[in-house]
Amino acid sequence: MKGHSHPTNDVSLNPSGNRSIRDVIDAVSTSRRQFVKGGVGAAALATAGGLTLGGLVSTVQAAPVPPGPGFPGIGFDSIPASTDIDPGTGSKLADMVKVPAGYTAQLFVAWGDPIMPGGAPFIGDASETAADQMKQYGMHNDGMHFFPLLGTGGKPGSTRGLLCVNHEYTHEDILFTDGQVGGGYTIAKTRKSQAAHGLSVLEVRKAGGRWMVTKTSPFGRRITANTPMKISGPAAGHALMMTREFVITDLASTPTGGTTDGRKAHGTINNCANGYTPWGTYLTCEENFNGNFGGSGLVDTSTTTEIGKLNRRYGLSAGGFGYRWHTTDPRFDLTTNPNEAHHFGWVVEVDPYDPKSTPVKRTALGRFKHESAQYVVDKDGRLGVYMGDDERNEYIYKFVATKPCSPTNRAANRNLLDEGTLYVARFDADLTGVWLPLTPGAIGKDGVALRDNPNFSGANDAEVLAKILIKARMAGDAVGATMMDRPEWTGARPRILGFDEVEVYCTLTNNNRRGTLPASVMAADGSTAAGSARPPVDAANPREDNVYGHIIRWRETGKSVTATTFAWDLFVQAGDAATAKPAKPTNDYQGNIVDAPNGSADYGAPDGLWFDPFGRLWVQTDQVGDGSGDWVNIGSNVMVCADPNTGETRRFMTSPNKCEVTGVAMTPDGRTMWVGIQHPGEDSASANPTQFSNWPQGQFAVESDGLTVLPPGRPRSSVVVITKNDGGVIGT
Ligand code: FEO
Ligand code: CA
Ligand code: CA
Repeated sequence: MKGHSHPTNDVSLNPSGNRSIRDVIDAVSTSRRQFVKGGVGAAALATAGGLTLGGLVSTVQAAPVPPGPGFPGIGFDSIPASTDIDPGTGSKLADMVKVPAGYTAQLFVAWGDPIMPGGAPFIGDASETAADQMKQYGMHNDGMHFFPLLGTGGKPGSTRGLLCVNHEYTHEDILFTDGQVGGGYTIAKTRKSQAAHGLSVLEVRKAGGRWMVTKTSPFGRRITANTPMKISGPAAGHALMMTREFVITDLASTPTGGTTDGRKAHGTINNCANGYTPWGTYLTCEENFNGNFGGSGLVDTSTTTEIGKLNRRYGLSAGGFGYRWHTTDPRFDLTTNPNEAHHFGWVVEVDPYDPKSTPVKRTALGRFKHESAQYVVDKDGRLGVYMGDDERNEYIYKFVATKPCSPTNRAANRNLLDEGTLYVARFDADLTGVWLPLTPGAIGKDGVALRDNPNFSGANDAEVLAKILIKARMAGDAVGATMMDRPEWTGARPRILGFDEVEVYCTLTNNNRRGTLPASVMAADGSTAAGSARPPVDAANPREDNVYGHIIRWRETGKSVTATTFAWDLFVQAGDAATAKPAKPTNDYQGNIVDAPNGSADYGAPDGLWFDPFGRLWVQTDQVGDGSGDWVNIGSNVMVCADPNTGETRRFMTSPNKCEVTGVAMTPDGRTMWVGIQHPGEDSASANPTQFSNWPQGQFAVESDGLTVLPPGRPRSSVVVITKNDGGVIGT
């Protein structure tokens, strides 16, 4: 994600001064990948690197990646990187999705497709109104999950279900026929932009061998920036959650003169990655919410007021990311409605099986720029939810529910995510770590309990906890969490095939401030502006100028989500084995991706990360995606499949020009996979929408239903559906 209305999260807003552990880098550098002792030694890695140099094309049929504990093997060969630059444009990569031999990818659903009764087909020139968009698939899809509808014998079906898909942000120059500012900026544009955010619930089915959206399904639903929501959990009802009350119509957001009770909200935005629960609800995660706010006048960013400190720490400003919502919708005007920002940055629970259900913002999981929310169920039924905060130098969190979930009584789990303990991670140099509780009695680095810290002080511990959750970043600063290289998705390894650890992975996509000068770290008092710190390297984030990113993983002590300690290592440091960049003592742009003998599977900027139920690890990337600069050998963004035991990795998908591969879902039988392509042709101007990409219509004439013809006109974020030609499980 980047672009006109969606800059990268390279802007750090974190001022805490939290400790770094650089002094032990040398001590740990040879043992960082400790979970697989003897699996891949330095000599083997060197050999792998040598074989991959210039070896971007797989020329021989490679052996399958063999199975191992908890892992069923990989059966396909890596496909080549997509690096061919179009001589006509000088920048355009092959503008298509490619998958391995024996697999087929088809276009499944694209921005603007109708998904519910009354929905109109996509026109092609984006002349739809906000009302049209309300019944159409939104823009810039991200995380997703498939919820089966019951099949034969009452078992979860793999031919019919509900696909929930996030819509992270909008490219305003593509969303409107005349661009964001052509023809003036109006409330009608704000409402359409708001309608293109949020998420879609699609009923999907396979019939006659074709996957399709049931376009008139009663399950079809759009949840947008204006959908009524509940706020629940410890922060509900707090004064910081009380906002100006508005009557929201197509034409205006009109203040009533009243104030909300802090228990209801409107809308969800910047829905990046996702989670889901064992009881069949979807978790949509609010990431860069700050960018959609603006100010008609002064926006408080002082270092002395409560609102000013919050705005600084979460990156709220008068200009935002260039959206203009606040100019026509005063709900998003920080000058007059500063508390509205506190309604965003949460995990929102949605019941896809009940189209009339009200989405719920679960404040117990903390407020930050949520990327994804991966659960693990403990032996006693308690849920742990692992979450990253995607901004430079931000933290990794865990929520542990107080009560066990019921495997048989769905209703009993309804409010399970309202009660529990939020922790933040500290990664120590000895490859162990600590989950630091963010509770009123937790002692900060300064020796002061959070309840006595002026940032969180309140009338009682209930109020203290509400403030801790609303200001979770500042609580992480206070207790000394480890500043990470932009935590993106979390994924939990399934405990199957003899593997029984609680092992969780997190992508750390990049950090262009790590190791820059003058060095600075998060101020313990929570006063560091978001993204502004310049931390030195540490054991868990060992590279300066971390262009290519890495993946960290940890195992909970006692194999329990309730553990307060863990062991960690680095699963991989991504990179380009053939890069011309020099090796530096504290950097290794080449990385250590294990890909021989099957041709290079090098990648960078890992973002999407997901274990399928069979034990295969899938990683998706988010770099510039046009094969320029640091990406000349890596080319387009990719999805790879990896063996969690050995790290062996194969490239499964390459993607269109200037897009991001993000979001993945699978049917329970593993024979159908959906993958998201976000923002193809990013950055194109309104006057020339196909300047960088003409995808998907450049690759596909019709969607997978065989009926929906794609109009020309402009690139569209879309989901592709992937099947194996022999009907087998994806990855075999
Ligand atoms: Fe929206 Fe951090 O990716
Ligand atoms: Ca992401
Ligand atoms: Ca990203």
